Formats: sequence, C-alpha cells, structure tokens
Amino acid sequence: MIQNVKGTKDILPDTISIWHFLEDSIKKITQKFGYNEIRTPIFEFTDVFSRSIGDSSDIVNKEMYSFEDRSGKSITLRPEMTAALVRSIIQNGLANNGELLRLWYYGPFFRYERPQKGRQRQFHQFGVECVGSEFAISDFEVIQLADKLVKSLGIKDYNLIINSIGNENSRNNFRKALVEYFSDLKDNLSEDSKMRLVQNPLRILDSKDPNDKSIIDGAPIINDYLDEESQQHYFEFKDYLDTFNITYQENHLLVRGLDYYNHTVFEFQSLELGAQDSFGGGGRYDGLIAQLGGKQTPAVGFAMGVERLILILTNLYEQKIKIKTVKVINQSTEVIDYSLYIANKLRELDLNVQVDLQRKSMKAQMKNAGKQNSDYCVIIGDDEKKNRSLTIKDMRIGSQKIVYIEDLNQSSF
Ligand code: HAM
Repeated sequence: MIQNVKGTKDILPDTISIWHFLEDSIKKITQKFGYNEIRTPIFEFTDVFSRSIGDSSDIVNKEMYSFEDRSGKSITLRPEMTAALVRSIIQNGLANNGELLRLWYYGPFFRYERPQKGRQRQFHQFGVECVGSEFAISDFEVIQLADKLVKSLGIKDYNLIINSIGNENSRNNFRKALVEYFSDLKDNLSEDSKMRLVQNPLRILDSKDPNDKSIIDGAPIINDYLDEESQQHYFEFKDYLDTFNITYQENHLLVRGLDYYNHTVFEFQSLELGAQDSFGGGGRYDGLIAQLGGKQTPAVGFAMGVERLILILTNLYEQKIKIKTVKVINQSTEVIDYSLYIANKLRELDLNVQVDLQRKSMKAQMKNAGKQNSDYCVIIGDDEKKNRSLTIKDMRIGSQKIVYIEDLNQSSF
C-alpha cells in the first residue's frame, strides 16, 4: 500500500474541529494586539537559513530539507519562519521607515528530526514577530500575547522559562569563560559537546548527556557576565512580567538552539508533553536584520508548535470545548417536517445537528449515530410530534429523557 512519508501526518476530518478552534483563537488574539498576518513561500534559498540560524546549529547541520532545483540552485524547505520573515521584510522594505511592525504567521515547517510524540518532520508553527523596538516592553508584549493565547485555550498547567544571554559584549566574555572551563574537562565531555566547544560553546549548556550535566553544574553562569546594558534590559523585562502577574521561572542554562538571539530568550513548557515538553520558544534578535543585509533593526518574537498545542488541547477539548454532535432520528417519514423544525431549533443552541436524508430505518439511523460517535440522538416519533416534545438520548451514558419545546435550552444537552 502507498504510504505517507515518515514524520508526516494526515489531519483527518474527525480531528479538524480542534485545529479550527485553535486557528480561530489565534486570529482573535493577534487581532486584539494589532498584529497583521504575513505569508511567505514554503521554500527559500538555503542561504536564508544557513546565514541566520547558524552553521553549527542542529537545524542547519542535520535537519534541513535541502535540494538543488533544476537550475542547480540550493533550495530549502523552511525549518522555521524568523529567517524567512526577515528576508521578506528586507526585500519588501517593510521596516525602512522606522515604524514598528507587528506580524504573525501560521503554516507548515520542515525538519528532518527523529519522529516521536510531539516531534514530526512536517509540523506547524504559529508565531509572532515584533520588529522595530529595542526596549524590553516589546519582549513583554509578545510574551503577554502568547500567555493570553494559552490561557484563552484553557491551558493552565504550563511553565514559562526565561533567561538573558545578554548583548554581544556580555556573550563574548561569557563564551571565553566557558571555553576556559570546559577545555580543562574536555576529555570527559560527550562527542557532541567536544564539537560544540569549538563551534558554539554556549550550546554545551543545552546538552542532555548525563555525564555532561554534572560538568555543566560547575560551569560559569551567564548572569555573572551580563554588562550593565544587558542587566538593565533583563531587569525591565522581568519587572513587566511581575507587574502583570505573568508567572515565570528563570533558568540560566536556557540558551536556545538558534544562533540569532541576544538578551531575552524564553520557552513555554508543559509536563503533559513528555520528552518534547517545549510547546513554544523565542527571544530577541537585534542583529539578524542587519546580518542578512537590511538596516540595523531590533526585533523580538516567538513561535509555538501547533501539534504540541493540539496534544495538550485534546484532553481539554473532549471535556469542555468540543461542540456536541446530535443526530435527529425519525421514526417515520410522517414526522420529517417536525424533525426539520427541531433540527433548526437545536442549531440555534449552537449544536452540530444532522438529519437523515436517506429514509433509513430507525434502527439504521441509530446504528449510524453510534458509528459516527454522536454525543446525542434526538428521537422524533408520532408522540413527540403530537406533544411538541423530543426524546434526547445521551449516547455516552445511554440515559434518555423527554423535553418539551418550551423547556428546551443548552442545558438540555
Ligand atoms: P524553535 O524553538 O525551533 O524556535 O521552534 C518553536 C516551536 O516549534 C518549538 O517550541 C516546538 O513547539 C515547535 N517545533 C519545533 N520543531 C518541531 C518538530 N520537529 N515537530 C513539532 N514541533 C516542533 C523557532 O523556530 C524560532 N523561529 C522561534 C522564534 C520566533 N524566535 C524568534 N521569533
């Protein structure tokens, strides 16, 4: 049988409503904060990503879907949006007049990673980028938007982890201290970390290797290397979070796997997700636009993994958010007009209602409702038509009750 590619998934009709719920929530929140949507191509020249995410990063090193097109140009399926968005901003001159740009995006991304729960090779991200302010108030705004979205989805059990990796000066001093510390212990480091010691020593702090972890415990701490400007930025950022009661945990080991960050970095984590616990991440990238050939323009943003949000939402959704489905069952063709009337009444209660269109027997209609996992059947026969009532059967627990039209409301279901 012909199969889908490993690490990709079909989103089938029985799960699409949860995606729509999430997509609607994203549209509402971004609108409330005055962010505009941007859509860019799904592939870019490979340079766009290798020049920004960093040659030593896992994404550029091992995870990109890159290929030569028929003219021999190296093309890459986008592994993330920030670099592609910066390319578009520069090309279209969007940030040239110094105005603040508030942008959001949603769509598929591609990384050749080992598939597991919450990790796919084609996945979706929702993200926002706030371009044009160097001040900590914009770091706060994007986090506030993310936090509002997560809360509006009904997700309560999550952690916001923050850190500052400082400005270039602070990071250079920190890098020197790290190289000095890890070089002395080099022989005990994992092979990956030995390589990182040469290419990107900060990333050693990210290592999951148990041996590395005990060495990392004694390593220098970034906070001790933040210069005054970096400290001030971090302090202001935390002050906004405190003032607006956004709970966070500081973790000085959080460095993130992409090279373009400075000052603030952060992640949203949920214990419900298992090993891939990060359902969102981001930070400030003041140097990236200039690095890719644009005018020096500060920026900050984040992206969330849609599949991971869906995993968290699935449990909640069954309990609270899902629109209930109802099958109206006709006992005979004589009651169809009354059934259609009832179906309309039920739709006014925001239920998802279907009526039989094939003149099937009552038994066949009930069987169909079971097959489609309907939450309720509403049974209409001669008695119901005569009494202006309906019989509601809760398919999940099997109970049945008669309700008169004048008493019908949302709590009847
Ligand atoms: P990232 O941390 O690489 O950041 O990805 C953001 C989120 O995308 C992750 O927290 C995760 O939820 C989701 N994600 C990443 N890879 C996969 C995968 N293979 N399968 C499923 N979900 C995945 C970025 O991409 C940055 N561009 C974020 C950013 C925006 N920074 C500033 N602005």
